[in-house]
Amino acid sequence: MRSLLIAAALSACAALALTALVEAKDDAADQSAKDVLPSGSVSSQAGLEAWTRIEAVVTHPRCANCHVDAAGIPMWTPAGETKTRAHGMNIHAGESRIGAETIACSTCHITSTDPNEPAPAPLRSGIDWQLAPVEFLWFDKTGAEICEQLKDAKRNGGRDTAGLLEHLRHDASLNGFIPRAWQPGAGRSTPPGSFEDHVKDVALWGAAGQPCPR
Ligand code: HEC
Ligand code: HEC
Repeated sequence: MRSLLIAAALSACAALALTALVEAKDDAADQSAKDVLPSGSVSSQAGLEAWTRIEAVVTHPRCANCHVDAAGIPMWTPAGETKTRAHGMNIHAGESRIGAETIACSTCHITSTDPNEPAPAPLRSGIDWQLAPVEFLWFDKTGAEICEQLKDAKRNGGRDTAGLLEHLRHDASLNGFIPRAWQPGAGRSTPPGSFEDHVKDVALWGAAGQPCPR
């Protein structure tokens, strides 16, 4: 009887946890639906200006250091140094992109919603630390190349503008990597603007038809 009760309590917990997750996703979807601007309501000139601001964010080390190629070597920009270089300590993310083959990223980059510690402490996140998928390659790419990738459904996880906005909101709802680029821990630089500015710019760029520089 006791174990039955415990089992019932446990499954109720699991159901609650699941509901919470689904609700987080719904909230993010509701929120991002409000972010979307009507298609064609923004001129291509204003769209290109929004892209220039997006470019400054996605090429910033707080974003690009994780969006690296198939070699799977994360990049880092140690405080006090001007150049970005390969992650120290011979870290390799492997094909898993989370270091499952060698040492898991989350060994040092703990999964936590607590604020980041000052540099050089490893950054943390509300979701398990890992490299972005290989197709989402930004490091060492030009703005024009990243722009083409971000609007190519075959290389961006099948996302249109609404999908990109939902990704930003969903990640933020989990205290994920994206909003944290603006709260990286003392001693680290942040991308220009704010997370909310970035969301607005993606909406403007999308409503203008995702124009890219040549
Ligand atoms: C042994 C501990 C350790 C492990 C394991 C580790 N890291 Fe790091 N990582 C660090 C530290 C410490 C820093 C901060 C360095 C600094 O800012 O000077 C860092 C920084 C980074 C940065 C730079 C972040 C930024 O905003 O510039 C990235 C990207 C990164 N790690 C990715 C990874 C990935 C991906 C993995 C797993 C494949 C991983 N790390 C595994 C300790 C670790
Ligand atoms: C800790 C590593 C890490 C950092 C830092 C990071 N990302 Fe990512 N990014 C990922 C991972 C992992 C995914 C794949 C998630 C998915 O598809 O669900 C991803 C996917 C994305 C996507 C989805 C579509 C695409 O074409 O890339 C966008 C947009 C994105 N990131 C934006 C950003 C922005 C903007 C920043 C900085 C403000 C940033 N990321 C910083 C790891 C990172």
